[in-house]
Order: sequence, then structure tokens, then C-alpha cells
Amino acid sequence: MNPKIKKILSKKNKSKIICLTSYTKNFSEILDKYTDIILVGDSLGSVLYSFDTTKNVNLKMMIEHSKSVRKGIKKSLMVVDMPYNTYRNKSEALKNAKKIIKDSKADAVKLEGGKKIINIIKHLRKNKINVMGHLGILPQSQKGKFRYKGKTSLERKRLLADAMLLQKNGVFSIVLECIETSLSKKITKELKIPTIGIGSSVNCDGQVLVTDDLIGLNLTSIKFVKSFYNIRKHIELAIKKFSSDVKNKKYPSSKFSY
Ligand code: KIV
Repeated sequence: MNPKIKKILSKKNKSKIICLTSYTKNFSEILDKYTDIILVGDSLGSVLYSFDTTKNVNLKMMIEHSKSVRKGIKKSLMVVDMPYNTYRNKSEALKNAKKIIKDSKADAVKLEGGKKIINIIKHLRKNKINVMGHLGILPQSQKGKFRYKGKTSLERKRLLADAMLLQKNGVFSIVLECIETSLSKKITKELKIPTIGIGSSVNCDGQVLVTDDLIGLNLTSIKFVKSFYNIRKHIELAIKKFSSDVKNKKYPSSKFSY
């Protein structure tokens, strides 16, 4: 077993798992000291490319960003999202997962879904690909308005069954996105593998956020996003200073000239 995955599994019921997204080397260099898992999320579609949906993200984009992210990681486990329409059947999924891992040296891939994609996950695991699951809100299949999951008893039963099925078929961890508090608690308690929550309460074994959201670079009004900092203010100060130094011919001074 990948020793980084072993370490993450050993944190269950002991200490919280820290997971954050990164799309570039500079970010992963900063995150790596504090994270257990760095996720190259297909959220890069909306955060970096201003797409309306992650469905527009393709394999090439994910691989190029992952190659950059890899260069900034020393210790965290690196997980890459398999983008939309890259795992529609077993052979397509295996070919693309292998390409992601070969090109970016990622440790694992993440796929959205439960029972519907279980044969694909089985096939990846049979071929020794490390897989992270993702249940709850699934942005790649989202139609219409976002609504938290676990409202009805049928939905709750299905989500728990999906989580158990993913575990049985060898995923090492599951992201739970926007799952009602008591259900995320139950899923976390029932599973031996760790759950990583996003909008799914404090009860999960770990938490993930989109880094650009938490530093206040990407502005969003999503309920579960806490902006821990206002990085925009600092970026603006630097840009303002540059602009004024150029206008006043203070920059570039002789120190910065040849
Ligand atoms: O794409 C992404 O960044 C994700 C996380 C938010 C879990 O899937």
C-alpha cells in the first residue's frame, strides 16, 4: 500500500485529515506543510477558467495543472479529479487514469458517484489504481439548483449504501459533499475508511475546501465556505504600489536595471 495512504487511513478516529485543492506549483508549495492530501480538483474549471460547469474541464487541462502541482509537493498525498466524460466505461477510465498518473505522478484519482460507477471503480482497483470516492452533491452530474443531500429517508439509505459499496470495492477515502449533519455522522461512523467533508459538518474524519475560496481570492456565496482571509486586499496593495512606482519612475530603479 502507498505509505501516504496508509498514514491517512491510520488517522481515522485519531486526528483530523486536512485536504485542500491546488491547481499550481506555487499553491501546493504553500499548502504541503499543512495538508495530508492535495487535490487537483476539477473545480479549477470554475475557479480558474470561469466555466459555468465542471463538465467543460478536459483531461489535458487536468494533466497540465497536475504536473505543475506535483512540482510543489514534498509530503502530501496527491489526488487528481478525473474530469467529466473520461470514465464512461471501464477501458476509457483505466486508460485515462493511467495517463493522469503516468504524466503527473499523482498518487490517486477521484471519481464522482456510487453504485452507478462501481464497475469502473472495481476495474481501476483491479489494476492497482488508488481511488478516492465522492458522494453527495456531484458537480459533474448536477442539474439545476444545488440542494444538500440526505433530506429524504430514501436518499439517506442510498447514500449510506453507496458509501459502504465504495468501501467494499477498495476506495481509500470518500469526499462527502453537502450531506446533512446526522447522515454524514452516521456514514463516518459506519465506515472504516475516512470521510472528507465539504459542507458536510464537523463529524467527518477530515475537511476539504477550495483553497481559492478559503483565502478569499475566489468570491463565492456558498453557505459552507468560510473565507479565512482577504487575500484580494493584499494583492491589490501590491498592484497599487507597482502602478504608482511605475508612474513616478521609481521602478525600475538602477538596482533593478542592467
Ligand atoms: O473539484 C473539487 O475541487 C472537489 C472538491 C471541492 C471536493 O471535488
